[in-house]
Amino acid sequence: MTDKRRSIHGSWSSRLAFVLAATGSAVGLGNIWKFPYITGEHGGGAFVIVYLVCIAIIGIPIMMAEVMLGRRGRQSPINTMLTLAREAGADARWSWLGWSGVAAGFLILSYYSVIAGWALAYVFRAMSGTFSGATAEGVSSVFEQLTGDPERLLAWHTIFMVMTMMVVARGVRGGLEQAVRFLVPALFVLLLLLDGYAMASGAFDQGLKFLFTPDFTRIDANGVLIAMGHAFFTLSLGMGAIMVYGSYLPERASIAKTSIIIAVLDTVVALLAGMAIFPIVFANGLEPGAGPGLIFQTLPIAFGHMTGGLVFGTLFFVLLVFAAWTSSISLIEPAVAWLVENRGVTRVHASMYAGITAWAFGLLSILSFNRWADFKPLSFIPIFADATVFKLLDYLTANIMLPLGGLCIAIFSVWVMKRDDSLQELDIGDGAGYRLWYTLVRYVTPVAVIIVFLNVTGLVDFSGLLGLAE
Ligand code: PFF
Repeated sequence: MTDKRRSIHGSWSSRLAFVLAATGSAVGLGNIWKFPYITGEHGGGAFVIVYLVCIAIIGIPIMMAEVMLGRRGRQSPINTMLTLAREAGADARWSWLGWSGVAAGFLILSYYSVIAGWALAYVFRAMSGTFSGATAEGVSSVFEQLTGDPERLLAWHTIFMVMTMMVVARGVRGGLEQAVRFLVPALFVLLLLLDGYAMASGAFDQGLKFLFTPDFTRIDANGVLIAMGHAFFTLSLGMGAIMVYGSYLPERASIAKTSIIIAVLDTVVALLAGMAIFPIVFANGLEPGAGPGLIFQTLPIAFGHMTGGLVFGTLFFVLLVFAAWTSSISLIEPAVAWLVENRGVTRVHASMYAGITAWAFGLLSILSFNRWADFKPLSFIPIFADATVFKLLDYLTANIMLPLGGLCIAIFSVWVMKRDDSLQELDIGDGAGYRLWYTLVRYVTPVAVIIVFLNVTGLVDFSGLLGLAE
């Protein structure tokens, strides 16, 4: 264990605090909003299987690698990579990995905050009884009214971004640790309640079948990339968020155990969300492939018909906002830490600069849902035929930048860094556990990421081999 370096930003109060913060970063809109709708768009069961396999063989090992690098470098990802590259006698340009992570963080936060703004707006809709007795059409029109109005979206996006900047400005321990302590258990309880409702909805079997019966002819190469990209996105990997959180991790704490706990919690939340949503989709004759509006057009129907729906609905959207909040702060933390380290600005100023930058990019996503809804800049590429600017941003970050970042993290951790150093930092002994990690990160992750990329670009075609749709 290297405790020779100390983070100038402080540290978590305990290992539990780190688990909570990293879980807070992982569990977010990705689990409750994104996972169900992309599963719906890519045919269900087969997509879920690919996603689960990616979590197990890529996600967990990369998470361990990121935490390990962060704790060893004890600085922002940019400076951590610089320090560790020097230590390994490697090229200083490894710090570019930190820069691409900062860029990905800004881009993700820019649209993340817009969607979190929808959740904020829905807190008030739910509270005022908008959904009582609502039909599928009624709920859809509420959603369309909101997303069709750029001014309203801008207002909610702004509020959410200010909330994010406020927490980041307060630093590592202030407020954040407490929020997650309550959030994760409460979210579980509410999702279970929704699952209970879904069970009674009459289409629970159909929903489960859709989620868990794999049909590989319904997923194509692009779907596989999206499932893999989502594994990175949902675990907050490939851009330095977990690395920077790892840099605040106090001395002895098992990186392996911690990573597994976080990945399991994150996956359970996603599956519970899927199990709540799809039965409602089928019971109401809705489309599983409805896109980003899916949860906003399904769950309100459930709230509108269950006893206590007003309270539960409000609570659900409040929790969704919290889940998004504990994730959004981790998206700009790498940039903020770097600004404090290299530009000598205070955390308050650094949070403002970073937040305002992401806020400005957010305008692109806001317009994608209304004025620019028909603007498809890359429509000449078949897989982007229907992609708005929002979709492209999401695709670029989640499916390209994060897996590429993960690939570089993998290469650095086991090809560049000395084996003794990772062995010492991971501190799990030189047994089967370490060797499994080493093999997964050394071979499996790079090969998997490269194959999936090549397959999508069409340079190599494994689809037939895997029985995927063409
Ligand atoms: N993991 C978050 C979610 O699933 O909502 C999103 C996210 C947070 C992605 C932080 C990347 C990141 F660095």
